[in-house]
Amino acid sequence: MKLAVYSAQPYDRRFLEEARSAMSGVETVYFSDRLELDTVPLAQGCGAVCVFVNDKLDAPVLEALHALGVRAVLLRCAGFNNLDIAAGMRLGMFMARVPAYAPEAVAEHALALVMTLNRRTHRAYARVREGNFALDGLLGMTLHGKTVGIVGAGQIGAAAARIFHGMGCKVLVSDPAPASQLDGLVERVSLDELLTRSDIVSLHCPLMDATRHMINAASLATMKRGAMLVNTSRGGLIDTAAVIDALKCGQLGALAIDVYEQESNLFFHDHSSDIIADDVFQRLMTFPNVLVTGHQGFFTIEAMREIATVTFANLACYLQGARCPNALGASA
Ligand code: NAI
Repeated sequence: MKLAVYSAQPYDRRFLEEARSAMSGVETVYFSDRLELDTVPLAQGCGAVCVFVNDKLDAPVLEALHALGVRAVLLRCAGFNNLDIAAGMRLGMFMARVPAYAPEAVAEHALALVMTLNRRTHRAYARVREGNFALDGLLGMTLHGKTVGIVGAGQIGAAAARIFHGMGCKVLVSDPAPASQLDGLVERVSLDELLTRSDIVSLHCPLMDATRHMINAASLATMKRGAMLVNTSRGGLIDTAAVIDALKCGQLGALAIDVYEQESNLFFHDHSSDIIADDVFQRLMTFPNVLVTGHQGFFTIEAMREIATVTFANLACYLQGARCPNALGASA
Protein backbone atom coordinates (compact mmCIF):
# COMPACT_ATOMS: atom_id res chain seq x y z
CA MET A 1 0.00 0.00 0.00
CA LYS A 2 1.24 3.41 -0.99
CA LEU A 3 0.48 6.45 1.17
CA ALA A 4 0.56 9.98 -0.30
CA VAL A 5 1.56 12.54 2.33
CA TYR A 6 0.42 16.06 1.44
CA SER A 7 1.63 19.39 2.89
CA ALA A 8 4.78 17.55 3.93
CA GLN A 9 7.57 19.56 5.52
CA PRO A 10 11.00 18.12 6.34
CA TYR A 11 9.98 17.73 10.00
CA ASP A 12 6.83 15.75 9.00
CA ARG A 13 8.97 13.42 6.95
CA ARG A 14 11.41 12.91 9.82
CA PHE A 15 8.77 11.83 12.34
CA LEU A 16 6.52 9.93 9.89
CA GLU A 17 9.47 7.92 8.58
CA GLU A 18 10.48 7.09 12.14
CA ALA A 19 6.98 5.68 12.76
CA ARG A 20 6.69 3.99 9.37
CA SER A 21 9.90 2.04 9.86
CA ALA A 22 8.05 0.04 12.53
CA MET A 23 5.43 -1.01 9.98
CA SER A 24 5.92 -3.33 7.03
CA GLY A 25 4.19 -3.18 3.65
CA VAL A 26 3.63 0.60 3.57
CA GLU A 27 5.42 2.88 1.14
CA THR A 28 5.25 6.67 1.54
CA VAL A 29 5.47 9.45 -1.03
CA TYR A 30 5.83 13.02 0.19
CA PHE A 31 4.49 16.17 -1.46
CA SER A 32 5.00 19.69 -0.13
CA ASP A 33 1.84 20.69 -2.04
CA ARG A 34 -1.44 21.21 -0.26
CA LEU A 35 -4.21 18.78 -1.17
CA GLU A 36 -6.81 20.48 -3.35
CA LEU A 37 -8.52 19.53 -6.60
CA ASP A 38 -5.47 20.43 -8.72
CA THR A 39 -3.09 18.31 -6.65
CA VAL A 40 -5.30 15.21 -6.37
CA PRO A 41 -3.46 13.52 -9.33
CA LEU A 42 -0.31 13.35 -7.19
CA ALA A 43 -2.04 10.53 -5.29
CA GLN A 44 -2.18 8.36 -8.43
CA GLY A 45 -1.35 4.79 -7.44
CA CYS A 46 -1.89 5.44 -3.72
CA GLY A 47 -4.48 3.73 -1.56
CA ALA A 48 -4.45 6.35 1.18
CA VAL A 49 -3.64 10.01 1.75
CA CYS A 50 -2.21 11.67 4.84
CA VAL A 51 -3.20 15.31 5.28
CA PHE A 52 -2.87 18.29 7.61
CA VAL A 53 -4.92 21.27 8.79
CA ASN A 54 -4.98 23.33 5.59
CA ASP A 55 -5.50 20.52 3.11
CA LYS A 56 -8.88 20.68 1.44
CA LEU A 57 -11.07 17.61 1.76
CA ASP A 58 -14.40 18.78 0.41
CA ALA A 59 -16.76 16.60 -1.65
CA PRO A 60 -15.16 17.25 -5.08
CA VAL A 61 -11.67 16.47 -3.73
CA LEU A 62 -12.86 13.30 -1.98
CA GLU A 63 -14.68 12.16 -5.12
CA ALA A 64 -11.59 12.78 -7.24
CA LEU A 65 -9.41 10.88 -4.76
CA HIS A 66 -11.90 8.01 -4.71
CA ALA A 67 -11.89 7.88 -8.52
CA LEU A 68 -8.09 7.45 -8.36
CA GLY A 69 -8.49 4.50 -5.98
CA VAL A 70 -7.83 6.27 -2.67
CA ARG A 71 -9.92 4.65 0.07
CA ALA A 72 -8.46 6.05 3.28
CA VAL A 73 -7.90 9.58 4.59
CA LEU A 74 -5.53 9.97 7.53
CA LEU A 75 -5.59 13.37 9.20
CA ARG A 76 -2.40 14.04 11.12
CA CYS A 77 -4.21 16.61 13.27
CA ALA A 78 -7.05 16.82 15.80
CA GLY A 79 -9.41 19.32 14.11
CA PHE A 80 -11.38 18.04 11.11
CA ASN A 81 -13.25 21.16 9.97
CA ASN A 82 -11.51 20.82 6.58
CA LEU A 83 -13.04 17.36 5.94
CA ASP A 84 -16.53 16.76 4.51
CA ILE A 85 -17.30 13.70 6.63
CA ALA A 86 -20.72 13.15 5.02
CA ALA A 87 -19.12 13.04 1.55
CA GLY A 88 -16.45 10.63 2.79
CA MET A 89 -19.14 8.39 4.30
CA ARG A 90 -21.13 8.41 1.06
CA LEU A 91 -18.00 7.20 -0.73
CA GLY A 92 -17.36 4.57 1.95
CA MET A 93 -13.94 5.98 2.76
CA PHE A 94 -12.04 5.28 5.96
CA MET A 95 -11.30 8.56 7.75
CA ALA A 96 -9.36 8.98 10.97
CA ARG A 97 -7.65 11.73 12.95
CA VAL A 98 -5.19 12.09 15.82
CA PRO A 99 -7.47 13.41 18.55
CA ALA A 100 -5.25 14.29 21.50
CA TYR A 101 -1.57 14.03 20.68
CA ALA A 102 -0.30 16.62 23.13
CA PRO A 103 -3.00 18.89 24.52
CA GLU A 104 -0.48 20.40 26.92
CA ALA A 105 1.72 21.50 24.00
CA VAL A 106 -1.04 23.73 22.61
CA ALA A 107 -2.07 24.96 26.06
CA GLU A 108 1.56 25.82 26.83
CA HIS A 109 1.76 27.77 23.58
CA ALA A 110 -1.36 29.72 24.57
CA LEU A 111 0.44 30.56 27.82
CA ALA A 112 3.58 31.56 25.88
CA LEU A 113 1.50 33.95 23.77
CA VAL A 114 -0.14 35.49 26.84
CA MET A 115 3.18 35.90 28.66
CA THR A 116 4.94 37.36 25.62
CA LEU A 117 2.21 39.82 24.74
CA ASN A 118 1.57 40.83 28.34
CA ARG A 119 5.21 41.43 29.33
CA ARG A 120 6.32 42.44 25.79
CA THR A 121 9.26 40.04 25.85
CA HIS A 122 9.26 40.05 22.03
CA ARG A 123 9.91 43.80 22.06
CA ALA A 124 12.36 43.61 24.98
CA TYR A 125 14.43 40.98 23.16
CA ALA A 126 14.85 43.21 20.10
CA ARG A 127 15.51 46.32 22.19
CA VAL A 128 18.18 44.84 24.43
CA ARG A 129 20.07 43.45 21.45
CA GLU A 130 20.30 47.02 20.15
CA GLY A 131 21.55 48.32 23.48
CA ASN A 132 18.20 49.91 24.38
CA PHE A 133 17.35 49.17 28.00
CA ALA A 134 14.48 51.64 28.38
CA LEU A 135 11.30 50.19 29.90
CA ASP A 136 8.88 52.60 28.32
CA GLY A 137 6.24 50.65 26.39
CA LEU A 138 6.96 47.35 28.17
CA LEU A 139 4.48 47.75 31.05
CA GLY A 140 2.45 44.59 31.66
CA MET A 141 -0.01 43.36 34.27
CA THR A 142 0.47 40.78 37.03
CA LEU A 143 -1.41 37.68 35.92
CA HIS A 144 -1.89 36.36 39.46
CA GLY A 145 -5.44 37.23 40.49
CA LYS A 146 -6.64 38.01 36.96
CA THR A 147 -9.66 36.29 35.43
CA VAL A 148 -9.02 33.99 32.47
CA GLY A 149 -11.97 32.73 30.39
CA ILE A 150 -11.51 29.40 28.61
CA VAL A 151 -13.96 28.86 25.76
CA GLY A 152 -14.09 25.12 25.12
CA ALA A 153 -12.74 22.98 27.93
CA GLY A 154 -11.91 19.76 26.12
CA GLN A 155 -8.40 18.28 26.14
CA ILE A 156 -6.56 21.51 25.33
CA GLY A 157 -8.89 23.91 27.14
CA ALA A 158 -8.71 21.77 30.30
CA ALA A 159 -4.90 21.79 30.14
CA ALA A 160 -4.97 25.59 29.73
CA ALA A 161 -7.40 25.90 32.66
CA ARG A 162 -5.03 23.90 34.89
CA ILE A 163 -2.06 26.05 33.84
CA PHE A 164 -3.81 29.37 34.52
CA HIS A 165 -5.26 28.04 37.78
CA GLY A 166 -1.72 27.11 38.82
CA MET A 167 -0.63 30.69 38.18
CA GLY A 168 -3.16 32.00 40.63
CA CYS A 169 -5.72 33.16 38.07
CA LYS A 170 -9.46 32.87 38.53
CA VAL A 171 -10.55 30.53 35.70
CA LEU A 172 -13.97 30.71 34.03
CA VAL A 173 -15.04 28.02 31.59
CA SER A 174 -17.73 28.06 28.92
CA ASP A 175 -18.45 24.67 27.31
CA PRO A 176 -21.71 22.82 26.64
CA ALA A 177 -20.01 19.61 27.84
CA PRO A 178 -17.18 20.61 30.20
CA ALA A 179 -14.65 18.09 31.47
CA SER A 180 -15.53 16.92 34.98
CA GLN A 181 -11.84 16.73 35.99
CA LEU A 182 -11.91 20.52 36.31
CA ASP A 183 -14.36 20.42 39.23
CA GLY A 184 -13.15 22.70 41.99
CA LEU A 185 -10.62 24.48 39.74
CA VAL A 186 -12.93 26.53 37.55
CA GLU A 187 -16.26 28.30 37.54
CA ARG A 188 -18.64 27.23 34.76
CA VAL A 189 -20.43 30.14 33.13
CA SER A 190 -22.20 31.06 29.90
CA LEU A 191 -20.16 32.52 27.02
CA ASP A 192 -21.80 35.92 27.63
CA GLU A 193 -20.78 35.95 31.28
CA LEU A 194 -17.28 34.72 30.45
CA LEU A 195 -16.77 37.53 27.95
CA THR A 196 -17.96 40.25 30.32
CA ARG A 197 -15.84 39.05 33.28
CA SER A 198 -12.53 37.90 31.74
CA ASP A 199 -9.28 39.86 31.54
CA ILE A 200 -8.00 37.22 29.11
CA VAL A 201 -10.21 35.12 26.83
CA SER A 202 -8.61 31.99 25.34
CA LEU A 203 -10.42 30.04 22.61
CA HIS A 204 -10.17 26.23 22.60
CA CYS A 205 -13.40 25.02 21.01
CA PRO A 206 -13.59 23.42 17.56
CA LEU A 207 -14.57 25.31 14.42
CA MET A 208 -18.09 24.30 13.36
CA ASP A 209 -21.04 26.14 11.85
CA ALA A 210 -22.20 26.97 15.38
CA THR A 211 -18.84 28.46 16.42
CA ARG A 212 -17.78 30.24 13.22
CA HIS A 213 -17.21 33.94 14.03
CA MET A 214 -18.28 33.40 17.65
CA ILE A 215 -16.01 36.39 18.30
CA ASN A 216 -17.67 39.13 16.27
CA ALA A 217 -18.58 42.80 16.63
CA ALA A 218 -21.42 42.02 19.06
CA SER A 219 -19.43 39.67 21.30
CA LEU A 220 -16.35 41.95 21.26
CA ALA A 221 -18.55 44.81 22.50
CA THR A 222 -19.51 42.75 25.57
CA MET A 223 -15.88 42.01 26.53
CA LYS A 224 -14.12 43.90 29.32
CA ARG A 225 -12.58 47.00 27.80
CA GLY A 226 -8.88 46.38 27.17
CA ALA A 227 -9.07 42.59 27.60
CA MET A 228 -6.74 40.21 25.76
CA LEU A 229 -8.03 37.68 23.22
CA VAL A 230 -6.04 34.51 22.48
CA ASN A 231 -6.84 32.03 19.72
CA THR A 232 -4.88 28.80 19.34
CA SER A 233 -7.83 26.83 18.00
CA ARG A 234 -8.99 27.74 14.49
CA GLY A 235 -8.94 31.12 12.72
CA GLY A 236 -12.58 30.92 11.69
CA LEU A 237 -13.71 31.34 15.31
CA ILE A 238 -12.87 35.03 14.94
CA ASP A 239 -14.28 37.67 12.60
CA THR A 240 -10.91 39.30 11.91
CA ALA A 241 -12.36 42.52 10.47
CA ALA A 242 -14.41 43.04 13.65
CA VAL A 243 -11.33 42.34 15.78
CA ILE A 244 -9.37 44.99 13.87
CA ASP A 245 -12.14 47.55 14.56
CA ALA A 246 -12.11 46.60 18.25
CA LEU A 247 -8.30 46.97 18.40
CA LYS A 248 -8.45 50.36 16.69
CA CYS A 249 -10.85 51.81 19.27
CA GLY A 250 -9.15 50.14 22.25
CA GLN A 251 -12.13 47.94 23.16
CA LEU A 252 -9.80 44.98 22.61
CA GLY A 253 -6.54 45.53 24.47
CA ALA A 254 -4.41 42.85 22.84
CA LEU A 255 -4.68 39.95 20.42
CA ALA A 256 -2.55 36.81 20.25
CA ILE A 257 -3.28 34.29 17.52
CA ASP A 258 -1.63 31.08 16.38
CA VAL A 259 -4.35 30.55 13.77
CA TYR A 260 -5.88 32.83 11.18
CA GLU A 261 -8.98 32.44 9.03
CA GLN A 262 -7.06 32.81 5.74
CA GLU A 263 -3.94 31.04 7.00
CA SER A 264 -3.95 28.41 4.26
CA ASN A 265 -2.48 31.00 1.86
CA LEU A 266 0.31 31.93 4.24
CA PHE A 267 1.19 29.59 7.04
CA PHE A 268 3.79 26.80 6.97
CA HIS A 269 5.69 28.48 4.10
CA ASP A 270 8.39 31.13 3.83
CA HIS A 271 6.86 34.26 2.29
CA SER A 272 9.60 36.60 3.44
CA SER A 273 10.51 37.54 -0.14
CA ASP A 274 6.90 37.81 -1.36
CA ILE A 275 4.42 40.65 -1.47
CA ILE A 276 1.67 39.54 0.89
CA ALA A 277 -1.64 40.36 -0.75
CA ASP A 278 -3.81 39.76 2.31
CA ASP A 279 -4.58 43.32 3.49
CA VAL A 280 -6.44 42.14 6.58
CA PHE A 281 -3.43 40.16 7.74
CA GLN A 282 -1.10 43.04 6.93
CA ARG A 283 -3.29 45.43 8.94
CA LEU A 284 -3.03 43.07 11.92
CA MET A 285 0.76 43.23 11.61
CA THR A 286 0.73 47.01 12.14
CA PHE A 287 -0.59 46.81 15.74
CA PRO A 288 2.03 46.79 18.50
CA ASN A 289 -0.43 44.85 20.69
CA VAL A 290 -0.93 41.98 18.24
CA LEU A 291 1.17 38.83 18.30
CA VAL A 292 0.88 36.21 15.57
CA THR A 293 2.55 32.81 15.34
CA GLY A 294 2.12 30.56 12.32
CA HIS A 295 0.11 27.61 13.72
CA GLN A 296 2.91 26.20 15.84
CA GLY A 297 0.92 25.35 18.97
CA PHE A 298 1.23 21.62 18.28
CA PHE A 299 4.89 21.80 17.31
CA THR A 300 6.83 19.92 19.97
CA ILE A 301 8.96 16.79 19.60
CA GLU A 302 6.54 14.82 21.76
CA ALA A 303 3.51 15.90 19.76
CA MET A 304 5.15 15.21 16.38
CA ARG A 305 6.15 11.74 17.55
CA GLU A 306 2.65 11.01 18.84
CA ILE A 307 1.02 12.31 15.63
CA ALA A 308 3.21 10.04 13.51
CA THR A 309 2.68 6.98 15.71
CA VAL A 310 -1.10 7.39 15.88
CA THR A 311 -1.36 8.14 12.15
CA PHE A 312 0.27 4.81 11.33
CA ALA A 313 -1.76 3.03 14.02
CA ASN A 314 -4.89 4.40 12.32
CA LEU A 315 -3.59 3.13 8.96
CA ALA A 316 -2.92 -0.29 10.50
CA CYS A 317 -6.56 -0.43 11.72
CA TYR A 318 -7.73 0.33 8.20
CA LEU A 319 -5.47 -2.26 6.58
CA GLN A 320 -6.43 -4.95 9.10
CA GLY A 321 -10.14 -4.05 9.06
CA ALA A 322 -9.93 -3.52 12.82
CA ARG A 323 -12.06 -1.08 14.81
CA CYS A 324 -10.28 2.28 14.93
CA PRO A 325 -10.83 4.43 18.04
CA ASN A 326 -9.89 7.56 16.09
CA ALA A 327 -12.13 6.97 13.07
CA LEU A 328 -14.53 9.64 11.86
CA GLY A 329 -17.98 9.07 10.37
CA ALA A 330 -19.25 5.58 9.57
CA SER A 331 -15.79 4.12 10.03
CA ALA A 332 -16.01 5.18 13.71
P1 NAI B 1 -11.71 18.54 22.27
O1 NAI B 1 -12.68 17.89 21.34
O2 NAI B 1 -11.05 17.73 23.34
O3 NAI B 1 -12.43 19.79 23.02
C1 NAI B 1 -13.25 20.70 22.39
C2 NAI B 1 -14.23 21.21 23.45
O4 NAI B 1 -14.97 22.29 22.88
C3 NAI B 1 -15.24 20.15 23.91
O5 NAI B 1 -15.24 20.04 25.33
C4 NAI B 1 -16.58 20.69 23.40
O6 NAI B 1 -17.67 20.37 24.26
C5 NAI B 1 -16.29 22.19 23.37
N1 NAI B 1 -17.22 22.97 22.58
C6 NAI B 1 -17.92 22.60 21.48
N2 NAI B 1 -18.71 23.62 21.07
C7 NAI B 1 -18.49 24.65 21.93
C8 NAI B 1 -19.02 25.97 22.04
N3 NAI B 1 -19.93 26.43 21.18
N4 NAI B 1 -18.60 26.75 23.05
C9 NAI B 1 -17.67 26.29 23.95
N5 NAI B 1 -17.15 25.05 23.89
C10 NAI B 1 -17.55 24.25 22.88
O7 NAI B 1 -10.63 19.25 21.34
P2 NAI B 1 -9.14 19.69 21.72
O8 NAI B 1 -8.20 18.56 21.50
O9 NAI B 1 -9.15 20.35 23.05
O10 NAI B 1 -8.84 20.74 20.57
C11 NAI B 1 -9.55 21.96 20.50
C12 NAI B 1 -9.24 22.64 19.19
O11 NAI B 1 -7.87 23.06 19.21
C13 NAI B 1 -9.33 21.72 17.95
O12 NAI B 1 -10.66 21.72 17.46
C14 NAI B 1 -8.39 22.37 16.99
O13 NAI B 1 -9.11 23.24 16.18
C15 NAI B 1 -7.43 23.18 17.87
N6 NAI B 1 -6.04 22.72 17.79
C16 NAI B 1 -5.07 23.63 17.52
C17 NAI B 1 -3.75 23.25 17.45
C18 NAI B 1 -2.65 24.23 17.17
O14 NAI B 1 -1.54 23.81 16.83
N7 NAI B 1 -2.85 25.53 17.32
C19 NAI B 1 -3.36 21.84 17.61
C20 NAI B 1 -4.45 20.96 17.97
C21 NAI B 1 -5.74 21.39 18.03
